[in-house]
Amino acid sequence: MTPPDIAARKGLQPLVCLTAYTTPIAELIDDHCDVALVGDSVGMVLHGLPSTLGVTLEMMILHGKAVRRGLERALMVVDMPFGSYEESPEQAFRNAARVMTETGCAAVKLEGGESIAQTIQFLTARGVPVMGHVGLTPQAVNAFGGYPVQGRGEDAERILRDAVSVAEAGAFAVVLEKIPEAFARRTTKEVSIPTIGIGASAACDGQILVVDDMLGLFGTFRPKFVKRYAELGKAAEAAIATFANEVRERRFPASEHVFGDEPRNVSGGEAA
Ligand code: KIV
Repeated sequence: MTPPDIAARKGLQPLVCLTAYTTPIAELIDDHCDVALVGDSVGMVLHGLPSTLGVTLEMMILHGKAVRRGLERALMVVDMPFGSYEESPEQAFRNAARVMTETGCAAVKLEGGESIAQTIQFLTARGVPVMGHVGLTPQAVNAFGGYPVQGRGEDAERILRDAVSVAEAGAFAVVLEKIPEAFARRTTKEVSIPTIGIGASAACDGQILVVDDMLGLFGTFRPKFVKRYAELGKAAEAAIATFANEVRERRFPASEHVFGDEPRNVSGGEAA
């Protein structure tokens, strides 16, 4: 998948997008998703940070490289972390070029609307495909005073302007986060590029979730818009508890996990 492939899906079959931070997860989602986003949510999900603000360019590059090794088909997009693009279009280009060359990703994602449109234009004119992100932008958590729903009442016009300016600046798609359904429908209609919703209803051109959220692996933060498709965290904890009991009761390792003095089978694989 390429950024133009994604852009061409406007109004057609919904785009399927998930985050990925590691090679094994990238391998699992590759056959099923159009976009694999190396989101800066990695800071909260895998590194235990309280928000995405502490995420560095180095962290994004490290996880980006890991995800790249697991993908063959899906478009890989890497989030530009807080502080790596807001200062100037030149700073954004320098860091985006580093992310692209070091990870092999095909596009970057930037949070912000009108205020960042000039930067998006600068990047797209220089061969850096950009995915936008408007509505609730988690890097602005301190400015918002938390993670409130955006785009209610008069605020809707501001966010619509944000989405339109991101599209006009050349972004190939835009994430709409945590906005009411009717407003998501209106934005999707008025914006020329695919809208990818997270907490923005099925009225969008596609959907994205944090993979650890939908797998039930990340429990500390559970917004209303997350549907749990599995409870892998609970299954993992039960497995760990069983292992702990078996070790304490000397039931693990059992005879089938133990090596004898003499090899019994050396043809192919490990000697028994
Ligand atoms: O960092 C992230 O995971 C995101 C979302 C859109 C899922 O930006």
